[in-house]
Amino acid sequence: MPKDAVPLIAISLNLSRAEVHGVLSFYHYFRKEPPGRHVVHVCRAEACQAVGAVELESHAKKTLGIEWHGSTPDGAITLEPVYCLGNCSLGPSLMVDDTLQGRVSPKRFDQLMAQLKEPAVGGA
Ligand code: FES
Repeated sequence: MPKDAVPLIAISLNLSRAEVHGVLSFYHYFRKEPPGRHVVHVCRAEACQAVGAVELESHAKKTLGIEWHGSTPDGAITLEPVYCLGNCSLGPSLMVDDTLQGRVSPKRFDQLMAQLKEPAVGGA
């Protein structure tokens, strides 16, 4: 959502700019800048936390060098938290773009991220 769109939205919806800004800043799915080419959602809910999600979260942030809602400098990966992916019995869980992954260890995480950074077949 470009910054310049805020006044246009406010006028269109008969709201103040502050109200529009409040909504845009509350919901993380509204972004000021485009996400990375791949979005990785890491589950932070209780069932996954009980089986290693806290460690996975730390590992993800450390190895990617970013915090929640951040993107790697090469624009390949954006890291997002999520609170349950409905895959609780197979935690720790994460979603890579539209693909659910279960029992993700730090080693498996590294493998998945390495695949995301590979250039597409036939790409430049
Ligand atoms: S608690 Fe992680 S998928 Fe449900």
